[in-house]
Amino acid sequence: MTDNYIDEEFSFDRYPKTDNFSLKAWNAADEHILNYLEDNDLFRPNPVIYNDRFGFLTCVLNYLSPVIVISEKSQEKSCRLNMQRNNLKENDERFVTPLASLPGKVDLGIVKLPKSLDLFRLYLDHLSAYLHDDSLVICSFMTRHFTQQILEIANEFFYEFEQSKAWKKSRVLILSKPKKPEPIQITNSIEWREKTFKQYFGVFSAGNIDYATQFLIDNITVKNEDKTVLDLASGNGIIACAVKSKNPDCEINLIDDSFLAVESSKLNLSGEKIFFYFNDTLEDFESDYFDLVISNPPFHFEYENNIEVALSLFNDVVRCLKIDGRFLLVASRHLNYRTHLENIFSKVLTVAENDKFIIYECTKHIIPVV
Ligand SMILES: C[S@@+](CC[C@H](N)C(=O)[O-])C[C@H]1O[C@@H](n2cnc3c(N)ncnc32)[C@H](O)[C@@H]1O
Repeated sequence: MTDNYIDEEFSFDRYPKTDNFSLKAWNAADEHILNYLEDNDLFRPNPVIYNDRFGFLTCVLNYLSPVIVISEKSQEKSCRLNMQRNNLKENDERFVTPLASLPGKVDLGIVKLPKSLDLFRLYLDHLSAYLHDDSLVICSFMTRHFTQQILEIANEFFYEFEQSKAWKKSRVLILSKPKKPEPIQITNSIEWREKTFKQYFGVFSAGNIDYATQFLIDNITVKNEDKTVLDLASGNGIIACAVKSKNPDCEINLIDDSFLAVESSKLNLSGEKIFFYFNDTLEDFESDYFDLVISNPPFHFEYENNIEVALSLFNDVVRCLKIDGRFLLVASRHLNYRTHLENIFSKVLTVAENDKFIIYECTKHIIPVV
């Protein structure tokens, strides 16, 4: 559904699309930033925007030529689609990842607070080197998501910070007088079964290996004939590592929508026949290519939960799977994926289950022409 902003001056779609009409491409925390900038005449040059999920701030502030920090491929696609929709010129140089250099000094930082406060730290660390004494950083969030830790992180990087009054249940946090500390460590380490996994801040399951993932790894069979394998929604790459340990000769492909997830998996896997993809669909892959696709598919997206993205990925999988290839996935019981999977694949088996999770094996067979 397309939503209009300011008397139809701008219009926005969400990418990926959703059937939930209550979900918009922006919220009060986005508008609060614009109001704050306007009320205080803060439209400064050289802005950088972080975590603009669907491109709302990117489009409305386009006339300031902001640099957009892109953490997800779907975010980049959404920003670009909304720029096209609003007849704004896309400039590739203005899209950077959170591990890339910024083009120059920053007078104004704009941060829509991510759910992961580690990721907020990573963003402030990224920004820090480009700030000068008079730079300002404006962060916004919904009041119900406030925690004291936000201020503690702000205090690591800035001498001064103040919060606005609440407006439509949102607040802005204004950070000034940057401290410019030494760069911080931006990865976590997870010890698991005699191996250490590294991952950048903000990547799925920071403190431990997810229980659903562990259950999947403990119950997968990888056959010698599985020559081409895809770890779909690969996070830090732990599932790909498990597949490679069971069949070292296979070609393993990893794909994730999160840039920092893909970069994390590069820290955990090296060797031959390992390929990394930063994307949110399987458009990079040929049809009938994989012997095995394996996944703990996404379900949480910041503060939203939905199965639409997973269902769309399942439809991609059926195209990319070889005839008689297998798709192994783990899911929480309550998601009730079976009916959806049965509509997409020829055969769906339960491989293992416990009180929380189910592992399905889905196959695609030749449909006989009668
Ligand atoms: C439940 S986590 C699993 C991560 C990892 N495989 C593990 O087991 O620890 C789901 C992952 O899906 C990724 N993701 C979300 N949407 C995606 C999409 N459209 N395509 C690929 N990956 C996606 C997220 O970034 C996240 O890393």
